[in-house]
Amino acid sequence: MTKGYKMPKGFLWGGAVAAHQLEGGWDVDGKGVSIADVMTAGRNGVPRKVTDGVKEGEIYPNHWGNDFYHRYPEDDKLFAEMGFKCFRTSIAWTRIFPNGDETAPNEAGLKFYDDLFDDLLSHGIQPVVTLSHFEIPYHLVKVYGGFSNRKMIDFFVRFATVVFDRYKDKVKYWMTFNEINNQTAWSDPHPLLQNSGLQLGADDNWEQAMYQAAHYELVASALAVQAGHAINPDFQIGCMVAMCPIYPLTAKPADVMMAERAMQKRYWFGDVHCLGEYPKWLPKYFERKGFDMDITAADLATLKAGTVDYVGFSYYMSFVTKGRDGDQEYDFKEPDDFVENPYVEKSDWGWQIDPTGLRYAMNWMQDRWHLPQFIVENGFGAYDKKEADGSVHDDYRISYFRDHILAMEEAVALDGVNLIGYTPWGCIDLVSASTGEMAKRYGFIYVDADDNGHGSFDRSKKDSFDWFQQVIASDGEDL
Ligand code: BG6
Repeated sequence: MTKGYKMPKGFLWGGAVAAHQLEGGWDVDGKGVSIADVMTAGRNGVPRKVTDGVKEGEIYPNHWGNDFYHRYPEDDKLFAEMGFKCFRTSIAWTRIFPNGDETAPNEAGLKFYDDLFDDLLSHGIQPVVTLSHFEIPYHLVKVYGGFSNRKMIDFFVRFATVVFDRYKDKVKYWMTFNEINNQTAWSDPHPLLQNSGLQLGADDNWEQAMYQAAHYELVASALAVQAGHAINPDFQIGCMVAMCPIYPLTAKPADVMMAERAMQKRYWFGDVHCLGEYPKWLPKYFERKGFDMDITAADLATLKAGTVDYVGFSYYMSFVTKGRDGDQEYDFKEPDDFVENPYVEKSDWGWQIDPTGLRYAMNWMQDRWHLPQFIVENGFGAYDKKEADGSVHDDYRISYFRDHILAMEEAVALDGVNLIGYTPWGCIDLVSASTGEMAKRYGFIYVDADDNGHGSFDRSKKDSFDWFQQVIASDGEDL
């Protein structure tokens, strides 16, 4: 056993999921069609397709997820047995506003989350809620062009206000947009759709569209933060960034400068969320690129008035980049400018495994944003093998968690990072966001379902279940 550091009293140990990846029940009780509902199954190395509406004969894994919609009481019991203090999920926007532009919410959708939150609370587990986790109503994409349209700000704020008000006595910790910065890779259309509801054509200026959509999201987030605090001043409303620190390949000054620019381009979203203003380099960049942005003085005042209370973030991996000789602009382009890190291992999906990167990132964010932090995703997607007796010996997952939790604890105990909690991703097996697979499993709890939705959907404990239970019981000391 590895000895870790005891986490402070009240530390929020738990697990994390997102509605569309586990609930299923995609068209029940008045729910509308979300972006996730029109994404087909992909595989490791095979991208998902996006269809124009739900089509006969296609496979849409988010339609069934792991059937949490019908089985959550059983799952909540297992979470409680593991010792969870909190459970991070999202509220599917389309359960509340099926098309997104209605003026009155869908009562059956609101009731589902009332029941879920009550059940969690009855086990002493507090819900932690993301408002928009890759689940924009598809209608808003088709009719309004997603967050390319300023009207989306109003739709989002209405949704946020309705749920803040409804759950004001049940939920304290909220986040506005999941991994808002996970849309900076120019070659991959899915994050742009998942985060911002953008469907671009070949002739569109992808980069400008991304910056514009992100600006509207940041304004929407700032307005939601203000609305939430007016409803309940005790609310803690955070942002959520995908934190993958980017290192220079060598000490060569051009590599170091390129890594700095890469970090600026990936984390300016956090600067706006946490500091309430755009970093100085970005208007210069817009100017240089000739981007004509719709950013008003009123928007800038809103951003200043709606800064977040904490930094929620995911951490899975780090990246590496290198400079280009003679290039003064250092216009880092993702993913072209990434290079392999020769010092770390990779998962089966090519994700670089780097526990020290977590400690590094926590220090970096503390120094830059000066806010409490909440690790709301971290985990290891792997192929699991269920043995004849039903057991799953996932020692690789335990070892990933042990190393990352230790790095996290060092950041707290040795470096003084102010950390609220830790919720490993996919605490129960669910549908992968990037590939749509069930085979990319993250859970402490195994779900008997395959990529095509075949199986009993029965739950069982993996070896990591007992291990994480012991970590929580010892407040992080027994790793
Ligand atoms: C994050 C998302 O990107 O990583 C989750 O917030 C996602 O929704 C998780 O599931 C892991 O990624 P993937 O693609 O393996 O499911």
